[in-house]
Amino acid sequence: MKLFIDTADINEIREAAEMGVIDGVTTNPSLVSKTGKPFRQVIDEILKVVDGPISAEVVALDFAGMLAEGKDLAKIHKNIVVKVPLTVDGLKAARALSDEGIPVNQTLCFSPMQAMLSAKAGAAYISPFVGRLDDISQDGMELIRQIVQIYENYDFTTEVLVASVRNPIHLLESALIGADVATVPLKVIKQLTHHPLTDKGLDAFLADWEKVPK
Ligand code: E4P
Repeated sequence: MKLFIDTADINEIREAAEMGVIDGVTTNPSLVSKTGKPFRQVIDEILKVVDGPISAEVVALDFAGMLAEGKDLAKIHKNIVVKVPLTVDGLKAARALSDEGIPVNQTLCFSPMQAMLSAKAGAAYISPFVGRLDDISQDGMELIRQIVQIYENYDFTTEVLVASVRNPIHLLESALIGADVATVPLKVIKQLTHHPLTDKGLDAFLADWEKVPK
């Protein structure tokens, strides 16, 4: 499973990149806004740190606007993936951009049939938001199971990119289900490294090392 980092914070991206575990980056307007920096500056900084797919989201709501923004974003760098919302106009934009060879990440997916439409429209990635479904007492991971099954049934090539990941269990279940990608905040990446037996074992090794004659 590929691991993307879900942030626009360049320090977090640098830290995860140094760990050697990330394959790409996803941003959204809220994450960019948190940085307090201009959008283009944020994207340029990320491009210098990560050589992999970097999702940058359009903010237009209409087809023509999304298409124009998407084309402009794609011109920045070959690694840019244009993030487009899952609406009627967003599906039209996914089809048009994909037909021009521009990869699309279709975002804000909350149902399996939305995901099927994105695959049919040629999106490179579908982003189902598991955490936000859990937040309203719906099973986010069940959505991932259903999408993976539907894509397998019909050999759709759109990659399932698990988004709105809130905890290590979301990651474990994504990997067991066979999702292609998960995009994860740095906090969760760090949580994955922790195990009490690792800490305990390390303490014991260091204590024993002190007894080795110097
Ligand atoms: C996906 O690409 C989104 O940026 C993100 O995963 C949304 O997560 P949130 O629900 O924690 O805001």
